[in-house]
Amino acid sequence: CRTTTLAHKRVLVTAGGTREPLDPVRFIGNHSSGRMGFAIAKAAAIAGAEVTLVSGINTLPTPRGVVRRIDVMTTGEMKAAVDSVYPQCDAVIKAAAVADYRAAHPASEKIKKDTATLHLELAKNPDILWELGQRKTHQLLVGFAAETTRVLEYGMAKLRKKNLDMLVANDVSAEGAGFQGDTNIATLLFADGTQEALEKMDKFALATIIVERVAALLAAHPE
Ligand code: C5P
Repeated sequence: CRTTTLAHKRVLVTAGGTREPLDPVRFIGNHSSGRMGFAIAKAAAIAGAEVTLVSGINTLPTPRGVVRRIDVMTTGEMKAAVDSVYPQCDAVIKAAAVADYRAAHPASEKIKKDTATLHLELAKNPDILWELGQRKTHQLLVGFAAETTRVLEYGMAKLRKKNLDMLVANDVSAEGAGFQGDTNIATLLFADGTQEALEKMDKFALATIIVERVAALLAAHPE
């Protein structure tokens, strides 16, 4: 009998984009709205999970039932928040769009526009999810892959490289998929090599399916 409930399960969800400061008024960011991750947090709470939501900056209200929300700005702050919660988690769903690079030397004063060109040196950020995969004990790990080409091939490679149990792959160049809108088109990839292609749907409907698959995997997961 397959269970679809997350009662007594501790689920960590990351959502939104991170921002990396260039100076006190500017940052490097991305188009993530946080809607997919917030929808997952809501669906997981409805399924009975004890949800911690780690969110990049946005104005979305905290979904009802989420027990803890930690707002972060940078990838480094997101990593610290995620790492502190990880040991007690049963599942981690990383829907956040993480800035892969940060300014190597953020300016302490506003950068002046008196030169024709401006060179920024960027330093690579840690890959939070990859590091969770290396330290995995009993946790179920779910990643996201936003690609514009060869989505399933890159997605499966990412699942293996990051030691994930499930990956939500979506083509952000497709109409009705990806960052800002209310709908998404995803294929779920699983560690056993199986795939589940889903129709275009509302982000909350997709979140509900993701949460159901997580519950089923946890039920089958040896502790
Ligand atoms: O490698 P890529 O960035 O496409 O992987 C996407 C997945 O990895 C997402 O689940 C994202 O939240 C996570 N990620 C991360 N830390 C990074 C980059 C990505 O946790 N620095």
